[in-house]
Amino acid sequence: MNHRANIAVMISGRGSNLAALIKACAAPDYPAIIVKVISDRRDALGLDKARSAGISAIALERRDFATKTDHETAILNELEQVKPDLICLAGYMRVLSAEFISHYPGKILNIHPSLLPKYPGLNTHQRALDAGDKIHGCSVHIVEEALDAGPVNAQWVVDIDPDDNEKSLGDKVLNIEHGLYVDAVRKVLAGG
Ligand code: GRF
Repeated sequence: MNHRANIAVMISGRGSNLAALIKACAAPDYPAIIVKVISDRRDALGLDKARSAGISAIALERRDFATKTDHETAILNELEQVKPDLICLAGYMRVLSAEFISHYPGKILNIHPSLLPKYPGLNTHQRALDAGDKIHGCSVHIVEEALDAGPVNAQWVVDIDPDDNEKSLGDKVLNIEHGLYVDAVRKVLAGG
């Protein structure tokens, strides 16, 4: 019998990586289904993308909770209801606490728009341009306590052209992120 893993996706915004995962999961031979989408912003466009696909999607805003711990406890309660095999951060803009991560050790993935360990954090495209790099790209990694620092599962590279700017480079990278994340999830679920 084929078991398809349960994935929960956490977002904060646009949700283009989420959309790529939704599309992949629509194929019966993809090894996962998305059982829940959680956003820390009510206005995240990705929420609509999830709901249009018939996926349960909820917003839990940080400001509605007194503390970070309370906020994360609410998220953990939502996750507990669907018992995800894997949690995919897809543009989730908050740093998860060690306590949160300890509930799903090795089971939280993140996609980051740089060739880690280069450029953890924000503004990765401009930093690659400023450094005069010839290549850039994106990484999928296991989430650990330190920001964007867990073991890398998969990376794809793009060339930086002389006429690239932050926008053109960002578009190039986003374009390859979608396929990378879909492949990385497949690989992780296969035990890779
Ligand atoms: C992506 O660039 C991802 O690498 C980063 O946040 C962005 C999210 O984009 N972590 P989207 O919401 O998936 O379109």
